Amino acid sequence: MSVKVNGLTKIYGTQRAVDQVTFEAKQGEVLGFLGPNGAGKTTTMKIITAFIPQTEGTATVCGYDTNSDPIAVNEKIGYLPEHNPLYKDMYVREYLGFVAGLHKINNKKKRIDELIEMTGLGLEQRKLIGALSKGYRQRVGLAQAMIHNPDVLILDEPTSGLDPNQLVDIRNLIKEVGKEKTVIFSTHIMQEVQAVCDRVLIINQGKIVADDPIDILRQKVAGQNIITVQFKQKVHKNQLLGIKNIKEIQAEDEFRWRISSGSDNDVREEIFDFAVANKLTILEMKRELSSVEDVFHQLTKG
Ligand SMILES: Nc1ncnc2c1ncn2[C@@H]1O[C@H](COP(=O)(O)OP(=O)(O)OP(=O)(O)O)[C@@H](O)[C@H]1O
Ligand SMILES: [Mg+2]
Repeated sequence: MSVKVNGLTKIYGTQRAVDQVTFEAKQGEVLGFLGPNGAGKTTTMKIITAFIPQTEGTATVCGYDTNSDPIAVNEKIGYLPEHNPLYKDMYVREYLGFVAGLHKINNKKKRIDELIEMTGLGLEQRKLIGALSKGYRQRVGLAQAMIHNPDVLILDEPTSGLDPNQLVDIRNLIKEVGKEKTVIFSTHIMQEVQAVCDRVLIINQGKIVADDPIDILRQKVAGQNIITVQFKQKVHKNQLLGIKNIKEIQAEDEFRWRISSGSDNDVREEIFDFAVANKLTILEMKRELSSVEDVFHQLTKG
């Protein structure tokens, strides 16, 4: 396992900002880290990157403990912090050269050229960082995180504030990098999770409330079985209440209904039997899985 976190806890005053967090991430995996504001994502990431110490528990990166081996952890990890602090008075290439120097990289020029190509910074490479737009600053942040070719990338909201085109570019980059490395990234954009991640970790009030592959996660949450059915004839809600094992019925119009079982029952068969018994014709019947967004609301509300 590239990243192993066990019973991690961070206490600020009386607040358990991170509370007994345990998870693992392996090579070739992109892990989406979700949670409401203040849930503990940034704090967890700062501990994994050996930026701040934990109160309890352990975190290891490629076998190195963040407390006893922070230098080794720094070599293995690339980190894009939440607010992407960059030296605004430095030029892009100068800054990347500086970071490459910190990592004692041989043949700095070649590596900087590669990163500039990879992150699409070609046209901006001779500018002052302070003169770059937000999206391009974010790319410089990604370039510095990857410059030493780390095995693990920890990206705290790497796509926040990007325009739709930049979003696609950066997501593709994350996906590409994730084929070989371990990537843990936080985001508030649910489509992004569906588009990029292999697995999702949801944290709420410092505690992990879900750790699953996306499809499993979507199936796990009640409300997963929403069947949309379109009849040829007008149907009244009272009639539909006769279907077995259902919980909720919503009309899209008098022909089209959303029927939910509220459990893990698939009620398509019951709907079909009901239609036959009532001499109704079904034109369309479709089962929807809940979206990551539904799951997120369900697990983090209250
Ligand atoms: N240095 C600190 N001192 C006191 N409390 C802190 C400190 N850093 C974080 N916290 C608290 O810990 C909790 C978790 O914060 P954290 O930044 O990890 O949340 P987050 O999940 O990253 O949220 P967001 O989505 O808004 O970025 C918050 O309640 C925050 O106020
Ligand atoms: Mg944060």
